[in-house]
Amino acid sequence: MDYQKVLEEIKHRLDIVELISEYIDLKKTGQNYKSLCPFHSEKTPSFFVNPSKQIFHCFGCGKGGDIVTFVMEYEKVSFLEAISILAQKTGLEFESVKKSISHISKERLYAIYESATRYYMEQLNNSENAKQYLIKRGINQKTIEIFQIGYAPAEKNSLYNFLKEKNFDDILINSSRLVSNSYDFFRNRIIIPIHDLTGRVIGFGGRLIDSSSELPKYINSPDTPIFKKGENLFGLWHSKQHIREKGYVIVVEGYMDVILCHQYGFKNVVAPLGTALTQEQLEKTKRILNNLKKFTNKILLIFDGDEAGIHAAQRSLLPLFYGGFIAKIVLLPEKEDPASFLQKYGDKAFKNYISKALSPIDLIIKTYPKNKLNEGIHSFLNSLSYLKDLIYRDELLKELSEKTGINEKTLRDELKQIVHNKNFKKEKINIKNYLVSKEEEILLRIALSYPEKINYILQKINIEDFEVTIIRNIFSKIEELQKHGQFSLNKLLNIIDEEEKTFISKLIMTSEIDEELIMQNMNDCLKSLAIKSIDKKIKKIAKSGDEKTLQELIRMKKNIIKNHNG
Ligand code: UTP
Ligand code: MN
Repeated sequence: MDYQKVLEEIKHRLDIVELISEYIDLKKTGQNYKSLCPFHSEKTPSFFVNPSKQIFHCFGCGKGGDIVTFVMEYEKVSFLEAISILAQKTGLEFESVKKSISHISKERLYAIYESATRYYMEQLNNSENAKQYLIKRGINQKTIEIFQIGYAPAEKNSLYNFLKEKNFDDILINSSRLVSNSYDFFRNRIIIPIHDLTGRVIGFGGRLIDSSSELPKYINSPDTPIFKKGENLFGLWHSKQHIREKGYVIVVEGYMDVILCHQYGFKNVVAPLGTALTQEQLEKTKRILNNLKKFTNKILLIFDGDEAGIHAAQRSLLPLFYGGFIAKIVLLPEKEDPASFLQKYGDKAFKNYISKALSPIDLIIKTYPKNKLNEGIHSFLNSLSYLKDLIYRDELLKELSEKTGINEKTLRDELKQIVHNKNFKKEKINIKNYLVSKEEEILLRIALSYPEKINYILQKINIEDFEVTIIRNIFSKIEELQKHGQFSLNKLLNIIDEEEKTFISKLIMTSEIDEELIMQNMNDCLKSLAIKSIDKKIKKIAKSGDEKTLQELIRMKKNIIKNHNG
């Protein structure tokens, strides 16, 4: 059984109203059920469940989908975990479900990463060169063991051969992505394991030993079902207890910084994996910060004192405020990072240095030159507009006013203006998307509510002509099902992703199209799309100067318009 079969069986056995009623109180209203939304806070219910279509949608926060979506959102679990939870509820044999859900189970991946970790550690023992390198970096034996640091030999198949000896099969070995077609991913690098929150190794960082090499200094093992670079933090497994005890987390930039901080007694320390926490990477940064938020909302960020470090520090305020963190910032002396600072000056000097951390406002005042301070203040207020904690916001505004001498009221007015502009921009974007998709949206609505019309639509339009990506993708899946004579809303929901489910649940829950007007609506939309598509071709041909084809297209366009009127 593959997971889609499992999913069908689950949906056959579970009713959405019964399932959601296990979590929240639903009240019947007409054909639907409603409730206060469990995903955002509200005073009047905007969360609706439609039993005939087996979907839910919240008109407040926009979340919606099927039972899988609901469990994913409510329990904060992955797609496959949600299916497992649902399977258990229906009494489907749990182990067999788990096996069928993913061909390569996560357990087998954990096992292969554990074996690889031990292999790399052993190889470190065998390599004088690698050991010397770590000694040069000031890393002692105890730290090597705590972080399970290893070494990947230079030969191209050494890990592969080891894993084969351990009886891992080729499919699994390839799916670990530590080897591809018997070729090792890491060669001649120091290996630094990345652990999940339960201490299992889920990925590796690898550092060059040979500094003359042209290759990148660090590479990370690729993403797998157990590892997402964009979300995990290096060092969190080792530091989580210390973060709780100290009440704050130290965030540094690199692997070596974490390792040496830890060795010198600063154990509440983590680093992102190869990305800077800045506003340009807002989505990624948000996910990383969410992982930290489980432990603390206080952060001490340490940056290199060079230009890049200063810039990164300035760009980090927005996501920190956005994530609800209280932050202080340390700028190290130029050319130093925490690892080199500790190695040169020791723990006391480091402790002393970081105790003089800057508040976000001191950072702005210190790093923007006098004649550019206004620019700095403006960018700071923009970041501040993302801060939801109004008390903290107030404190920061006061501090900013005191330290710059700018009237507090002026700062507040400026902030208000920024918030206003931001909302205005957001609204405009929403409206634009809506207008662009009008005809396409109506066609999709018709296809979902009146499946007998699908063939007609697919005959008249080329799927590539749908301009809205999400609608184009959904239609191509509808076509796929229809080709096998299998379309049903339920089947469609089983093969589309979460974003698409949300989109569809909203379409279905908002007013249905009057049955008598369907043919007319459908033809209007198809004509309008046909004209748009031909206009696009005309524009292209006009540029190429192919007069004959151009005339032909114009004739075709006239025909479409004529038929439309007649
Ligand atoms: P650094 O170059 O500051 O790393 O990059 P570091 O840990 O201090 O390295 P050492 O001290 O020279 O050994 C910071 C982080 O950026 C990522 C890594 O996560 C690194 O720890 N990075 C850096 C890469 O992903 N690739 C690179 O080529 C360089
Ligand atoms: Mn560094």
